[in-house]
Amino acid sequence: MDKTKILFVCLGNICRSPSAEAVMKAIVKKAGMADSFEIDSAGIIGYHAGEPADQRMQRHALQRDIHLTSISRAVKSPGDFEYFDYIIGMDDQNMNDLFELCPSEDYSAKISKMTDYCTSHSNTSVPDPYYGGAAGFELVLDILEDACQGLLDSIKNE
Ligand code: 4NP
Repeated sequence: MDKTKILFVCLGNICRSPSAEAVMKAIVKKAGMADSFEIDSAGIIGYHAGEPADQRMQRHALQRDIHLTSISRAVKSPGDFEYFDYIIGMDDQNMNDLFELCPSEDYSAKISKMTDYCTSHSNTSVPDPYYGGAAGFELVLDILEDACQGLLDSIKNE
């Protein structure tokens, strides 16, 4: 069977989307479904391309035994839109940018927002933690753990 391919997207690909990638990988591994998924992340901007995740984000994730290993890259259009089954933005600006980058209406149904999969958080975006303090990084991880579990449940129910 074909793998389900998921691309998580935020602005810089050094805080939220690499965390979403790592949280989702941990959740599918725990569910014994790692072989059924290909999971990646990218940024709307390539400003941090080639860099590992933000040190603060890495530290907070490690406290939950989540290891951020991905290296930042920019979203590729049309390639990413053709290749991935799910392209998931973190906030409304990411969503606007993704719809703008999307090369064809045929692919726009692949685009969704991370918080749409939350079942216990009422947040409507994963807030950018880059210019804030520790609480912002913890909130990102709390929302992502909820949303990634919801995403897996939603995919399993398809
Ligand atoms: P991210 O956070 O989109 O969650 O990776 C940011 C990282 C870097 C910048 C903005 C947001 N930046 O402007 O450099």
